[in-house]
Amino acid sequence: CRVLVLISGNGSNLQAVIDGCDDNVHAEVVGVISNKPDAYGLVRAHHSEIDTSCVIAHQGETRSDYDIRLKQAIDKYQPDLIVLAGFMRILTDEFVQQFEGRMINIHPSLLPKYTGLHTHQRAIDAGDNQHGASVHFVTPELDAGPVILQAKVPIYPEDDATTLAERVHEQEHAIYPLVVKWFSQNRLIMKDGAAYLDSKPL
Ligand code: GRF
Repeated sequence: CRVLVLISGNGSNLQAVIDGCDDNVHAEVVGVISNKPDAYGLVRAHHSEIDTSCVIAHQGETRSDYDIRLKQAIDKYQPDLIVLAGFMRILTDEFVQQFEGRMINIHPSLLPKYTGLHTHQRAIDAGDNQHGASVHFVTPELDAGPVILQAKVPIYPEDDATTLAERVHEQEHAIYPLVVKWFSQNRLIMKDGAAYLDSKPL
């Protein structure tokens, strides 16, 4: 299974996916694309001798023009699976539809709660006592595709957004490689807007 990872920043989830693609898993990270030239994830990719590309938005470029260039960059890698790992751009519907059932994202909340940004602070402000991360198939509506796997963490009274983010990140690194593994084993599909593992609805 050829896996392509899209990033904008640190790439700790990229690292977890790279590390998870060991000899027992029929998946290989064949490339990393960033929209930011200084993303630390690009350094991680180089350390693992993985090919990288940058697709940087031009000033005044429309979303659809950017997404056309992104699609061209992606096609060079002929991926089976596209893994969004902190890729901080909103994608056009047309772009997303081209990769239906083949593109996944990780979001730092227990979806459907807290789509969008600042999820850790929002969970604290709401007085929640648990929080977490979700891996989901990407559909045109932001952070709204069918959930594949979630990990929960407690929220403690002394938490701030930083301590909570750390706890969530640790869980992200456990669940994202597992989902990639399932996909590479052909156990995971999206059909009629729902996710299935081993033919059972998730
Ligand atoms: C993670 O919190 C992920 O849930 C969100 O972006 C962050 C990426 O972190 N989508 P990293 O770059 O993988 O360290």
